[in-house]
Amino acid sequence: MNAVVHPARRAAGTITVPGDKSISHRAALLGAIGTGATEVQGYLEGEDCLGTLRAVGALGAEVSRKAPGHYLIQGVGLDGLGEAGDVIDCGNSGTTARLLLGLLAGQPFTTVLTGDESLRGRPMDRVVEPLVRMGARVLGRRGGRRLPLAIAGARPLAPLRHVSAVASAQVKSAILLAGLWASGPVSVVEPAPSRDHTERMLRAFGADVSRPGDAVTLVPGRPLAGRLVRIPGDLSSAAFFLVAGALAVEGAVTVREVGVNPTRTGVLDVLQAMGADLAVDERTDDGEPVADVTLRPGALRGTRIAGDLVPRVIDEIPILAVAAAVAEGPTEIRDAAELRVKESDRIRALATELLKMDVALSERPDGLRIAGRRGAVAFRGARVSSWGDHRLAMALIVAGLAADGPTVVEGIDCIATSFPDFVPTCRRLFGETSIEVVP
Ligand code: S3P
Repeated sequence: MNAVVHPARRAAGTITVPGDKSISHRAALLGAIGTGATEVQGYLEGEDCLGTLRAVGALGAEVSRKAPGHYLIQGVGLDGLGEAGDVIDCGNSGTTARLLLGLLAGQPFTTVLTGDESLRGRPMDRVVEPLVRMGARVLGRRGGRRLPLAIAGARPLAPLRHVSAVASAQVKSAILLAGLWASGPVSVVEPAPSRDHTERMLRAFGADVSRPGDAVTLVPGRPLAGRLVRIPGDLSSAAFFLVAGALAVEGAVTVREVGVNPTRTGVLDVLQAMGADLAVDERTDDGEPVADVTLRPGALRGTRIAGDLVPRVIDEIPILAVAAAVAEGPTEIRDAAELRVKESDRIRALATELLKMDVALSERPDGLRIAGRRGAVAFRGARVSSWGDHRLAMALIVAGLAADGPTVVEGIDCIATSFPDFVPTCRRLFGETSIEVVP
């Protein structure tokens, strides 16, 4: 399906966004291996997270849906998972595949994982290599580096201290999860801190997780106890509307109850550095801090996104590239080579598609240089492609809303992986006629 996007200058309203994707995956996985029931409120019912629920169901945890986003997971405990009857399909979701590999490394049976074409092209060696060192056996394409992969777990696994070459929460999480079945501590050292939802939730379920110095360490031996998990809105989804609010010429956009875990708020820091009119009203901390965030239209200036900031903003770079295109002066995005192995090569995809909309930019091996606004309107309406990548599709729709004429974004079905109601939510803010969906 394609979206036909019409320019809209006014964005006004208060919205909520669906539950956090990263936290939803973790709630499904920990709920399955906890003892007793885990009740989850605000679970993201996008394809990626529904895939994780299906996976834990296939491994023996009973999952029931009480209401939209409201699930009960009957945990089977650390010893209770069983062999799946078939290959587990992780769809488009790197988090499902990599976190499951960690969990499966400690199981006394064999599981086969696969995924869609994009996921089958993404590197799995970053988790396979440390898990093999802990004692798991893995066979798969490209010498065990690409899905489909078969993983035969071992118990107990060997303790491990892993120094990761990439700041990746998926790598860190896979090792911490495997560590639950290790004979001694596992530690992960990262080049820069990545999102810490796994550590927070493991602790809430009763695990011994600490951060001595620059390493995150899990000491196995404690059971996990099922509990209530309330999932805040996903700041990565909110980011599209915050930038849309900044690009509009009138109105104000408020996104209520979004997660503002400090390992995720790079997008707010970048928008602030760009001079956005941003208000953050932070509240109670229920394991994860939550806020209402309001963005009002206003001029933006170019900025630099590099170094330790990058892991805190990695999923928001597509929409920040759109913000950079309307800003006064250039924006440099560096140290972000990881973008090349996301759901698409996001550096190449952004460079290709934003060029079609007349944005002046150049591609770097590890990022982009975006020249900034050149005329009264930053984007030329054009026919662009999502590259099958949900975040590209949503970022290009926001660019289209600020363009000088209609924009066609091809291949928007992928948005369902993380934000099935994205288009209706856009229409609520920008008007019913702002976006048409056509076959
Ligand atoms: C995620 C970690 C990040 C992020 C992804 C979700 C997670 O990936 O880009 O969308 O939930 O752990 P990496 O671990 O590859 O950096």
